[in-house]
Amino acid sequence: MFFYQQLENDLYRIGVNDRRTARFENMFPMPDGVSYNSYLIKDEKKVLFDTVDASFINDFYSNLNHALGEDKLDYLVITHMEPDHSSAINMVLKDHPDCKLVGNKKTFQFLEQFFGDEFKDRYLEVKNGETLEIGKRTLEFIFAPMVHWPEVMFVLSSEGELFSADAFGTFGAIEGHYSSDLIDMDRAFIDEARRYYINIVGKQGRSVIAILKKLEGKEVKMILPLHGPIHRQKDKIEYFIEKYKTWGSFESEEDGVLIAYSSMYGNTEEAADMLAYELSENGVKNIHIYDVSEYDNSYIISDAHKFSNFVYTAINYNTDLYPRMDAFLRELVGTGFQNRKVSVITNMSWGGRAEKIAEEILEGSKLEKIGETISLKSSLDEEKAAEIKELAKAIADSMK
Ligand code: FEO
Repeated sequence: MFFYQQLENDLYRIGVNDRRTARFENMFPMPDGVSYNSYLIKDEKKVLFDTVDASFINDFYSNLNHALGEDKLDYLVITHMEPDHSSAINMVLKDHPDCKLVGNKKTFQFLEQFFGDEFKDRYLEVKNGETLEIGKRTLEFIFAPMVHWPEVMFVLSSEGELFSADAFGTFGAIEGHYSSDLIDMDRAFIDEARRYYINIVGKQGRSVIAILKKLEGKEVKMILPLHGPIHRQKDKIEYFIEKYKTWGSFESEEDGVLIAYSSMYGNTEEAADMLAYELSENGVKNIHIYDVSEYDNSYIISDAHKFSNFVYTAINYNTDLYPRMDAFLRELVGTGFQNRKVSVITNMSWGGRAEKIAEEILEGSKLEKIGETISLKSSLDEEKAAEIKELAKAIADSMK
């Protein structure tokens, strides 16, 4: 079988959908799957961009062979060496004896670490800014270190096609709509694109801003990422680049409050619910509450980056911070979380250092404290309920 899309006369998407793998990098849930994109240009030279994950080599190979027809590959360009894109490299080189492997010094280092050096004599090493003629197109190699690994490079063709590695990708298998102009990005796309970016690349905001600067002034007519739909319409490309500028700068997208709580017997949950109610009474429209024991951290972290205000609870557990909140806060900090307004609710029945531990974890995150910490003793009472009202007002005021 074969299934691929012809994007232009001589440009094909020959990637695959993965609805079988439960977690990306064995970390992040993918309830709607993911796609591993690979692209083929049939210019005077036949050029393949990246391959796919090891579990889907047969489907990919079938697509490649049908799209190539009688032709043989001249170049295999590797924009990213993570195995979800590089697992079929050796197989392709074996079947295409004149195919050169195009990468940079680090590409080949990682290739050999993962798959050995069987095809060392076919390396074509490029430097940042170098070009390669392939017929009517010239390919320019633009290094994009740490978006998402050190060896990553973008490739911009003289036709305005930008092969962007992991950047501008998303979780979610392609449901027929292979291009973002065929979907409502605000409704069907952006939440999973944000969860993908924040959790996979998020920490490297500076590198993302640096590569966006390198692209300024260059004509980009189409973005071809390694996951998710392509982007070929000007307003969609601009929309997504603006999102990347916001995310890469660690700015919030919207005024809103993310409340992440942990609760053993429901008392801290009640305080979180009461705060949410009072926030609504104060006119706050965007309020999301997550129990860190119930949700995968990747969803909570994504919303924490999205909104202006962050509230967490620090409940004591054997005198330390409740372990699931401890793990959540550490993972949040690991995504570069910063520049937000923060408020805190603590709870203890007989003592502990939960609040202090949480503060230590968040120490380097440049957070602005809003309101006083609300310290519950086991459960809510009238006095604490009044404090929650005050905190809700302070949070709402902080958005004005
Ligand atoms: Fe899609 Fe960084 O791999």
